[in-house]
Amino acid sequence: MRGAMKMKIGIDKIGFFTPHLYVDMAKLAQARNEDPNKYLIGIGQNKMAVIPPTQDAVTLAANAAAKVLTVEDKEAIDLVIVATESGVDNSKSTAAYVSELLGLSHEIRTIELKQACYAATAGLQLAKGHIALAPDKKALVIGSDIARYGLKTPGEPTQGGGAVAMLVSKDPKLVTLEAESAYYAKDVMDFWRPLSQTEAKVDGKFSANIYLEFFEKVYQDYLAKTGLKLTDFSALLFHLPYTKQGLKGLRKALEGVDPTVASHYYNEFEASRKYNMATGNLYTGSLYLSLLSLLENTDTLKAGDRLGLFSYGSGAQGEFFSGRLQPNYKEALTYQTSEMLEMRAEVSVAEYEQIFSAILTDDHDRKLDISKDPAQFVLAGIKDFKRQYLKK
Ligand code: COA
Repeated sequence: MRGAMKMKIGIDKIGFFTPHLYVDMAKLAQARNEDPNKYLIGIGQNKMAVIPPTQDAVTLAANAAAKVLTVEDKEAIDLVIVATESGVDNSKSTAAYVSELLGLSHEIRTIELKQACYAATAGLQLAKGHIALAPDKKALVIGSDIARYGLKTPGEPTQGGGAVAMLVSKDPKLVTLEAESAYYAKDVMDFWRPLSQTEAKVDGKFSANIYLEFFEKVYQDYLAKTGLKLTDFSALLFHLPYTKQGLKGLRKALEGVDPTVASHYYNEFEASRKYNMATGNLYTGSLYLSLLSLLENTDTLKAGDRLGLFSYGSGAQGEFFSGRLQPNYKEALTYQTSEMLEMRAEVSVAEYEQIFSAILTDDHDRKLDISKDPAQFVLAGIKDFKRQYLKK
């Protein structure tokens, strides 16, 4: 037991995938008769991922994981958790499809987790417990989602999509997860998606307030439990449904703090929201895309530095936990994200609207044109209610 307590467990690798299309937020604002600065500054987004019908929660997840897994990783993985609120089946888990597409072992546990944008954090904590009991194994935890609120709705500029895959192991190369954590749950109707709907329902202003309420609760609980203070953290990371929301959380944490101290946290926050600003909401993956964005874009963080992470999922669940940066973490990153984001093609607002409306429903057979989707894993259609996935 003492050995298990001392063992370092955490995130060894992070892979991110978002499709090859985006819409420019200033152009979307113009099309909606809004001032572009409302979207660019007020909401804090400059590009929004556009998800073609050939991508869903399964393919996004597989594409993200495939970016980082080696043959050795695949052999060591015996637990796959896919967190999503964009699931494609009420019974079969997204993880079952993903594991097969990735060519993982069959001697494995595969499950899907749901609690809005929070579930990947639950997955991470469960994976940590699993590795404590099986230190020679690895766990794959993926947050995979498509954020949809509907055309011309207030939520529209906070859509997006993609997946973040994390390999959890002992002696991780990126971040170890610390033991203490503070969490809080309450039944709240701030955001939900009825089973009959392809778009989420959201009480936007209410959800923003509940997010901040939950942040204050779990952040203060964490500080009280651990005896730590703000300056024991080198950076604070937030779930980013849109990046302004995380900025509001950070401002709460920095209330009354000396401006020179505060400016350090604001600088790290800018590094942590760079990729999210260019992608939009990933729901379950957002906090972890923000972590990747920080790791790849910060110039100031060093080994041993403590990161504080706030995970939030409407409905509602909050958790504040922490991790420590590992030696040479910079060398363990793949730095593929900037290139992937820059290689994307811009679509017009009219094209985005057409793609948005082409979402696949399961009620009739359909064959999709996969020739325009450059991703490795694609959805080729539906036949007899069965989704047809392909590895190109
Ligand atoms: N320049 C700069 N900022 C501007 C601006 C301009 N020209 N015009 C407006 N803004 C600011 C507003 O002041 C506001 O900032 P604030 O939030 O700090 O007050 C922000 O832009 C948004 O404007 P608002 O009028 O509140 O937008 P809205 O009513 O259209 O809705 C959301 C915005 C975020 C509430 C809406 O997009 C939404 O519901 N999104 C989904 C929310 C969600 O993800 N919930 C789950 C949370 S986990």
